[in-house]
Amino acid sequence: MFELIRRDGLARTGKLSTPHGILETPALLPVVNPKLSTVPPRELYDIFGFKAIITNSYIIRSDEKLKERALNEGLHQMLDYPSVIMTDSGTFQSHMYGEVEVKNEDIVNFQREIGSDIGTVLDIFTEPEWSEDKTSHAVDVTIDRTGEAAKLKGDMLLAGVVQGSIYQNLRENCAKRMALLDVDVHPIGGVVPLMEQYRFSDLVNVIISSKKGLDPSRPVHLFGAGHPMVFALAALLGCDMFDSASYAKFARTDRFMFPEGTAGLQDMKGLHCNCPACSGHSYDEITKMKPAERTALIARHNLWASKCEIERVKRAILEGDIWELAERRCRAHPALLSALRTLEKHKDFLEQYEPLSRDNSLLYTGIETLNRPSFLRYSKRFFSRYEYPASEALVVFEDSTGKPYHRYREGEINKISEKYDAHFMVHTPFGPVPIELDEIYPIAQSLFPDPEDMETKEYSRAQMEHMSHKHPYALTMMWDENSTLDALDMMCQETPKFDMDRARVKAVSDYQFGTGAGNAFLDGEVSIIKSKSTGKIRNVLLNGQHILSMRANDGFFTLRPEGAHILMKTFPAPKLRVVVNDDAIPFNREGKNVFCSFVEDCDKDIKLMDEIMVVDSSDNLIAIGRAMMIREEMLSFQTGIAVKVREGIKEA
Ligand code: GUN
Ligand code: ZN
Repeated sequence: MFELIRRDGLARTGKLSTPHGILETPALLPVVNPKLSTVPPRELYDIFGFKAIITNSYIIRSDEKLKERALNEGLHQMLDYPSVIMTDSGTFQSHMYGEVEVKNEDIVNFQREIGSDIGTVLDIFTEPEWSEDKTSHAVDVTIDRTGEAAKLKGDMLLAGVVQGSIYQNLRENCAKRMALLDVDVHPIGGVVPLMEQYRFSDLVNVIISSKKGLDPSRPVHLFGAGHPMVFALAALLGCDMFDSASYAKFARTDRFMFPEGTAGLQDMKGLHCNCPACSGHSYDEITKMKPAERTALIARHNLWASKCEIERVKRAILEGDIWELAERRCRAHPALLSALRTLEKHKDFLEQYEPLSRDNSLLYTGIETLNRPSFLRYSKRFFSRYEYPASEALVVFEDSTGKPYHRYREGEINKISEKYDAHFMVHTPFGPVPIELDEIYPIAQSLFPDPEDMETKEYSRAQMEHMSHKHPYALTMMWDENSTLDALDMMCQETPKFDMDRARVKAVSDYQFGTGAGNAFLDGEVSIIKSKSTGKIRNVLLNGQHILSMRANDGFFTLRPEGAHILMKTFPAPKLRVVVNDDAIPFNREGKNVFCSFVEDCDKDIKLMDEIMVVDSSDNLIAIGRAMMIREEMLSFQTGIAVKVREGIKEA
């Protein structure tokens, strides 16, 4: 069983339960060759701290001595490794060295008999240059064998490999069929040639099309990915596990792996590494070592570099900056940058997984940042949910001050608002931002370089242009000091009515919950309480009842029970609701979190970090809280928190 701990976009950290304990993901499984171990498994566990390894059951089974030992002692004792051991099936050997003398049924039984924690089906390795027909046939055979293996797996977890080469339809179809089988882990296979040839754009398409079809509650393993250069990108796209023999293979040819690429010893002019393997050794010393000693050192360096990068990726997922990390890593090589650019094609899919906000600011790392789903999310919500105020004129400021913009433009805004019925927007890299939305994520929580590049200018200009066809103002102008004031003086007739605080409550509510929420929250006697020290809105009261609190860090609202009741009257079910099963109700009413297994249904548009209402099957409010998953995840995971409950509602 796989439990989701934290998700950011498709990237996630989780816990996979296996017969040898819980494996935390993202995880790298070093490949152990049972015949020739470059670094002993015991050292991988004790010194490096790898909690899982992968070895090849086909190699063990083909060697009489090893086979006997594995069957008698069990895999864990034979390898002297106390934690999770995954086994591969021989697919790769059959692919590289011709026909393998083994049947799917036999190799699956063998893996189970020797006590493998995660065994692998004998899938068919689909090559990138294969025809669609040939690939499609291989997918069919792989699916049949996976169905057969599922019946034989016993207590062993089973890895069902997604094949389909570079055909995105075949990958998605294979993944969908895999999702219906009783399988525990999904490796994405057939990708080694893509990685060896630096075809990272193809790799992105393969991962995303596979993810589209897979069951989100199962971990995804990228088969043969062991270069620290790709971990951040692959994790960003939802890969949870990695394995590779590269650390040893590269070492045999004197190649050092780093997150920024590979460096051959003969090309290096010095050493810049303080990993436990390298430290204490000079470059000259390493070049003069005996080959076996040098290979041993470089293999260990490669393991440390990989381990460190996996930990870095995990930290980024937990802290909310996996996008920034992946973007930075993808600048290591033009082929990776191509892959990053390929994400543009998938932004609609990625946007479904985009959280409402993050703990970290969005840092612009280059023009590819414009493809991040944060930009698409803002644009979609602004153009579909925002209602323009009925002001006569619009004054647009350039994004040339600090943030939040209204604070830096207070002088101008006050001067204009005293006399004219004007509204204000800022021309930002995200496009037009109404002044009252200037505190929400990612508008206030983003940093861009100065000067702006052409692509950012073009993106924001296109967004402004799009707005120019939609807005209702009689008069619009860019702020230009006295000439703006003169123009307003000549053209404006109506009395001022723009109220920034009310506008903020309305615009943030509509953006966050949907158009109509704002008007509902303002329908009555409204009082808006602001912080004395920061001037920011803290609480909103309607007819004397506290309905909303505004968060200082991301500018969005947290719901109070009275606010939730208003939303429920405004939007019919299932909007913004998570329906829980009767058994959970007493716990959720007490303020306990909602676990996936108790979710009956859920709004399909809920996004990560959304404020939501927990209800029973008759749409009675049970609790309010924050969504930690989207609908598909809540319905497919068997464990883990679906909604972090802030407040339970006692029975009336
Ligand atoms: N190792 C690397 N790629 C693959 C693959 O596609 N299938 C299996 N079983 N093992 C692999
Ligand atoms: Zn090193």
